[in-house]
Amino acid sequence: MKRLLPVLTALIVPALVWAAVPKKRPEDDVKGQELWERSCWMCHGAENKGDGPAAAALPGGVPDLSGTIKGRDFEPLVDIILYGKGAMPAFDAEMDRHNARRILIYLAKVEDEGLPPRKATPAPDEGEDEDEAGGDGVREGGD
Ligand code: HEC
Repeated sequence: MKRLLPVLTALIVPALVWAAVPKKRPEDDVKGQELWERSCWMCHGAENKGDGPAAAALPGGVPDLSGTIKGRDFEPLVDIILYGKGAMPAFDAEMDRHNARRILIYLAKVEDEGLPPRKATPAPDEGEDEDEAGGDGVREGGD
């Protein structure tokens, strides 16, 4: 034990120091939220229901993905994010696989917490009457 102790100390102390140093890289879900708010919610909607402000301009609309991300295989979804699908634009010029996956990590996390993906951060031009069923919202498209 006498000879082992310095060895253990030499191994454990740096590990503790490493753990205590704040990580420069943001957490996956934090980065994912940033990307979602920058590039995705305007189509997919604040609650990922496909009713974002830009969705109305798409003839086929945007699918309701709320509650559907958690537990899915992320890799095929990463491909859709990077290379597009139908009216969904490709984002490979804006992000790599890692960051596309981080958005899905973020969406899965808020689903787990039962929260909408975009909370309490309304864009400056958004009114407070967002929840009113006005009647002129997004039409349910055919397909
Ligand atoms: C211009 C509007 C628009 C933007 C911006 C947009 N999407 Fe989409 N997204 C769509 C549409 C439309 C579909 C449905 C495509 C289809 O199935 O034909 C879709 C589909 C998807 C799907 C596939 C769901 C499935 O099960 O097939 C994922 C995942 C997705 N989007 C994530 C994202 C992410 C993440 C971002 C931001 C990086 C994003 N989208 C930005 C319109 C958009």
